[in-house]
Amino acid sequence: MCGIVGYVGRGDAVASVLEGLKRLEYRGYDSAGVCFKSEDNTLNLYKKQGKLANLKRALVGVDHFSHSSIGHTRWATHGEVNDLNAHPHLSDTLTTSEMISIVHNGIVENAKEIRDELKGQGFSFKSDTDSEVFLALVQREIRNLSESEKPVVAVCRAFKYIRGNSAFVVQGRNFPELIAVKRGAPLVCGNSDNRDDILVSSDPYALAGVVNTLFFPHDDTVTVLHSSNDVGSMDPVIEFFDLEGNATTGFDTKQQLIDVTTTDKGEFEHYMLKEIYEQPKLIRSLRDYYFSPEGQEMLKNSQEFKPERVHITACGTAYYAGLGIKTFIESIDNIPCQVDLASEFRYRNPLISNKDLGLFISQSGETADTLAAQELCKERGLLTAAIVNVEGSTLYRKSDNNLLIKAGIEIGVASTKAYTLQVLTGRLFSNAMAGKKLDKVLGERFLLLADRISDLLAKVDMIKEIAEEIYNYKGYFYTGRGKYYPSALEGALKLKEIAYVHAEGYAAGELKHGPIALIDEEIVNIAIIGPELYEKTLSNIEEIKARKGVIVGIGPEGDDSAKEICDYYVPLNFKGLEELSPLYVNVANQLLAYYMAKFKGTDIDKPRNLAKSVTVE
Ligand code: G6P
Repeated sequence: MCGIVGYVGRGDAVASVLEGLKRLEYRGYDSAGVCFKSEDNTLNLYKKQGKLANLKRALVGVDHFSHSSIGHTRWATHGEVNDLNAHPHLSDTLTTSEMISIVHNGIVENAKEIRDELKGQGFSFKSDTDSEVFLALVQREIRNLSESEKPVVAVCRAFKYIRGNSAFVVQGRNFPELIAVKRGAPLVCGNSDNRDDILVSSDPYALAGVVNTLFFPHDDTVTVLHSSNDVGSMDPVIEFFDLEGNATTGFDTKQQLIDVTTTDKGEFEHYMLKEIYEQPKLIRSLRDYYFSPEGQEMLKNSQEFKPERVHITACGTAYYAGLGIKTFIESIDNIPCQVDLASEFRYRNPLISNKDLGLFISQSGETADTLAAQELCKERGLLTAAIVNVEGSTLYRKSDNNLLIKAGIEIGVASTKAYTLQVLTGRLFSNAMAGKKLDKVLGERFLLLADRISDLLAKVDMIKEIAEEIYNYKGYFYTGRGKYYPSALEGALKLKEIAYVHAEGYAAGELKHGPIALIDEEIVNIAIIGPELYEKTLSNIEEIKARKGVIVGIGPEGDDSAKEICDYYVPLNFKGLEELSPLYVNVANQLLAYYMAKFKGTDIDKPRNLAKSVTVE
C-alpha cells in the first residue's frame, strides 16, 4: 500500500528518495511523486499517475539536485487515480512561511468535517484526497504560531485534529528539517553511521543498506529529522517529541535486519518464483531455529497458555493459514478454535472472554484490520499472541507474545513462503501449547516436507505443461476436503491475484449444493485428492467429469485409479507427511498459479489493484 520516503542530508536527496520508492514498489501503488527543495529553498513538485518510470520520465532534464526531499507511492483510497490526487501535496499560498508539502499514508476519517471547517476559513483544495486537509491544517497552525514557537508545534497542533490511523511527513520552505508524525500507521527512521544521510519511511526496506539502527516512533510521537548540513557534529540529527512538544523516549530501537544484497531476484524472473523456491531452505531453517535455545525461549510462553478458546484473526492468505492452524489447535490441543476475517471480527460483537487467547497471523504485521482485531481483544482483556514475519512491526510490538516465522522479506505481492511458514509456526505453537517439547519426529517431518517440496520443484516442467494447457479457460474451481480445504481456498486466491481469472476454492462435497450449475467444458476443477476421504473425493470428481468439466488432479503418486479419471495429474508422495501434507499440495498450487499467470503475461510481482501490506481498514 502507500509508501513514504523522506531524506535530508549531505547527499542527493531525490536519488535517495527514488531509490527508496523503488524498493517500496512491491507494496503496490498506482501513482508516485517527489517534492524537493532547491538551493533558493523553493519546493518543487513532480508527481505522476502510474509506475515510478512515469515520474522518472517527468524528471528528465530537471535539475533536481537537492538536500531535502519527500516522496510517495500512492494506492488510492479517497479520490481517483490521477496526477492531482498523487502525493506529495504542495500548498500554493504566496506566503513563503506557509509553503509546505506533505506525504500521507492512512485515512483521515474526519476529512470532510475538517475540509468544511477550513473552507469556511478561506482555504481551498486542489485534490479529492483526505490527505490535503492535513496540509491545510498545518498551514493554518503555522500561521497561528507565536514568534518563539517552532514549526514542529504547528504539526503537533494540526495532528491533534486528525482522526483515524495515519502517518505524515511534512517539508517546509522556511524550515530545514522534515517533520514526521504517526498514529496506527507504520513509520521508521534512522541515519547513516557517518550522519550524512537521514531517512524516514513507512517501511524499513527503504532504509536498508544505508541505516543500521532503526528508530520506530510510537503513536502520537513527532519525529524531527535535521539535516547534518544544518546541525553541529554533536547535535542529534533525529529528535522525538510528544504532541505537547516535549522531548520523549516514545520510540523503539532495532537493528536493521534486511540486507539489500539478498533481496534481488537472482536467477529468477520474478520474486514470486524466487520465494516459492526458497521454501525448502526456509522450512529447514525454521526447524533449526525453533530447536535452538533462542527458538525454544520464544516458544516457552506458549507452553503456559491454557485458554478456554482460541480466536484466530487475519486477512487474505494469512486467514487461510489460520484455517490450517485451527485444525492443529483443535486436534492437538483439544481447544475450540474459531477463525475470523479480521475485517469482520470486531463488527459482529464477537463472544470473547478474558479466558480466551487472541491469535493474530500476519506476514507484514501492519494490516490495519488485523491490528484493529488485536486492539479489540486487548480491550476485552484477552491474552494475545502473533504469528508474524516482520520483527518490530506494529502487531509484533503490541502482542503479549510473538512467534516469528523467519521467512525473510517477502517481496512478491502474492504471498507464498509466508503462508507455508505461518502454518508450520502454527504447528509448533500448537505443540507448545499442548505442553509438549519439540520432538525428533516432528523435526523430521519438517525436513521431509522440505525434501518433498525440493523434489516437486525439480519436476516443475510437469506443472508448467499443465499450466500451458489450462490457462485460457473460463473459470476454475479448486476443491479439497478436510485438512486440504484451506489449500483449495489459498490455491484459488493465488490464481485470482496474479492471473486475473475467476477462481473459487470450495469444499469438494459442497460443490453439488450450487456451484455445480456452473460446470461445463469451459470450467477447470483443480481437485486435491488427499489420502483421507479418498473415495468420497473421487466421487466428487466424477460429478464434475460427468458435466464435462476439465479435471486437474493433485493426488497420490502411483495411484492409477485417481489418475485415470483426471485429464491432467500431478502425482505427489504424501507418505509420512501427515498433517503437513496440505503445505506440499499448496506448493503445487503456487507453481500452477505462477505459470498460468506467466502464460497470460500479467505483472506477476505487482498485480493490478493489489497492495502487499494493507494499512487501511
Ligand atoms: C494483502 C496482501 C495479501 C496478504 C494480506 C494480509 O491483501 O495482498 O497477500 O495475505 O494482505 O497481509 P498480512 O501482511 O497481514 O499477512
